[in-house]
Amino acid sequence: MSEQLPAVNYGTLNQQLAAMLANESDALANSANFVGLLFSEIPDHNWLGIYVLRSDELVLGPYQGRPACVRISLGRGVCGTAAEKRETLRVADVHDFADHIVCDAASKSEIVVPLIVGGQLLGVLDVDSPSASRFTETDQQGIEGLCNTFTAALEKSELRLPEFI
Ligand code: SME
Repeated sequence: MSEQLPAVNYGTLNQQLAAMLANESDALANSANFVGLLFSEIPDHNWLGIYVLRSDELVLGPYQGRPACVRISLGRGVCGTAAEKRETLRVADVHDFADHIVCDAASKSEIVVPLIVGGQLLGVLDVDSPSASRFTETDQQGIEGLCNTFTAALEKSELRLPEFI
């Protein structure tokens, strides 16, 4: 249950992330390490990764977890809906989300945060958990803060949209 989880110090984690991204300008390397750091430091999830917007669909990018569906149309599933609305979706029970796309039957809750770089939608960060109601308002604020640090670093990257990754 989420109340028994060790608390994540999102402030410290955000500082770690900023330091990790500061000296590297390659967007792919920074994306891979962003996903790796969050996967290692945020407990109780079974999949964490990025989907990148290509034309009108999201395509699988750097992630950690089991192999996942590769393409998600805008407006479909939790990821496509968050991308289309450009707003974070925190789903306490994925079975209550009518259009949820099942990549791993073990997933029970998830949070999807849009990644916006220079006003353009780059894609989304998707975190799935095997626990129901895993993500709290505190987690949402913390993960959004981490995404802001990541997208700010990408703005300085040598790879620019749309050739990201
Ligand atoms: N849960 C997502 C699909 C992606 S996988 O879970 C990795 C969704 O419904 O959008």
